[in-house]
Amino acid sequence: MQIIRRLEELGPALNVLRQNGRLALVPTMGALHAGHMALIAEARGLADGVAATIFVNPTQFGPGEDLDRYPRQEQDDAEMLEAASCDLLWLPEVEDIYPAGLATTVRVDGLSDRWEGEARPGHFDGVATVVATLLRTVGPDVALFGEKDFQQLAVIRRMAAELHLASEIVGVPTVRDADGLALSSRNAYLSPDERQRALALPNALASARRAIESGEPVSMALAAAKQSLVDAGFLKVDYFTLVDAGSLEPLETARNPMRLIAAATIGRTRLIDNLPVVMDASPDR
Ligand code: PAJ
Repeated sequence: MQIIRRLEELGPALNVLRQNGRLALVPTMGALHAGHMALIAEARGLADGVAATIFVNPTQFGPGEDLDRYPRQEQDDAEMLEAASCDLLWLPEVEDIYPAGLATTVRVDGLSDRWEGEARPGHFDGVATVVATLLRTVGPDVALFGEKDFQQLAVIRRMAAELHLASEIVGVPTVRDADGLALSSRNAYLSPDERQRALALPNALASARRAIESGEPVSMALAAAKQSLVDAGFLKVDYFTLVDAGSLEPLETARNPMRLIAAATIGRTRLIDNLPVVMDASPDR
């Protein structure tokens, strides 16, 4: 795996990689886990060359968020990527993405403003700006993102379509620990007790999905789910809601395609998760 730290070296390295055929890009902020590795594995199946980026993007962190304490473990990350047969790792400097005097921001109105956007104003402007820049700089045929960050995926799809970016955007299902908790770099902040209680989040999503799919009123299913989080010791439930899977508008009655999305805080750690809900789902789902 080639490791690129200087922007001047990126173009020539990508040209060599593109000679092999299709190129895939997996953007990350590092502290890699099996969720990120699922994106790399999927990328391997969709392209001939796989590039990853690690960039802890300052513009997507709000004041008081964890930019300074965000886990950084570049050496381990590079080893994991190498073991997964990633071909190229680009580690941009902040000035490579945000040169002094930069005046351009990419913003997806509407989609960026509710749910995560309400709790984290400006967050998705930072995401859309960095992802647009990464996609334009690397120019992959396909770029992969996790469904774990469902709203982020929706914002990126919309941005890529409306800016006519040539890269296909592919979503990859959420990878979970054996007990059901979605893998996240932020799980490292949980104490053992909080880690145990955090399970209430995927459990509440699964119960709400079952209830909705079996025809229970949506408002009742959501109220029960929120209560179960409070009972498990979550201090704050920012949202726990059923939305249209494309527009992310809230749904009062079930209608495909839809998604349950949730964000809640345990201790000092804010967790997000989501699940698909399908009416007329086959019994083995
Ligand atoms: P990061 O949190 O490092 O995640 C990188 C990619 O891995 C994202 O597409 C995310 O959705 C995906 N991912 C994280 N946990 C996952 C899991 N448990 N299962 C499947 N995929 C998972 O998301 C970001 O970085 C940034 O916002 C970024 C897109 C890189 C822009 O800065």
